[in-house]
Amino acid sequence: MQMKDVTVLFDEQQIRERISQIGRQINADYGGQEVLVVGILKGAFIFMADLVRELELPVKIDFLQVSSYGKATISSGEIHIKKKLDDAIEGKHVLIVEDIIDTGITLSRICEILQTRNPASLKICCLLDKPSRRQVTTIRPDYVGFSIDDHFVVGWGLDYDQQYRQLPVVGILDPSVYTK
Ligand code: PRP
Repeated sequence: MQMKDVTVLFDEQQIRERISQIGRQINADYGGQEVLVVGILKGAFIFMADLVRELELPVKIDFLQVSSYGKATISSGEIHIKKKLDDAIEGKHVLIVEDIIDTGITLSRICEILQTRNPASLKICCLLDKPSRRQVTTIRPDYVGFSIDDHFVVGWGLDYDQQYRQLPVVGILDPSVYTK
């Protein structure tokens, strides 16, 4: 069981309660308007599934997947879209859902691209935020589950080498796993 590799930062109950609070906030903020929830694959898939079930609004969903820019090219900020949105977003209230914001590079590029398509509004919701790592300071999430220090975290959708996404907690990965 991979739980042995992590130190729990947020357990299932804490996460579910926080997502429920965020859902209520979103319900209030959008006041019955239709929302297009856009999940950024892969990490957002579990958080997004939880979040949309808290929404009492007309909801449509779509997904976007971008290539990671990689450590070597971190300053370039270039991303490549691997999975496009299925439909136009013009005039729609778009809510981007992410598992984590780190440097902010990924979301800044995604927001730049989506803004050119004239959505009625564009907001960001993330489960985890690491503000101390931010390189793009213009990225400010509208809804944040938890702000965390600079730990290597996995679970609830977040991976290390494509593993640990299924863990029902957010936990700090034991460094022995990635320093082997
Ligand atoms: C993670 C996360 C964000 C991005 C955040 O994705 O889901 O998309 O990194 O980092 P940034 O703020 O420094 O740009 P990752 O590339 O690990 O892909 P995944 O979602 O498929 O795990």
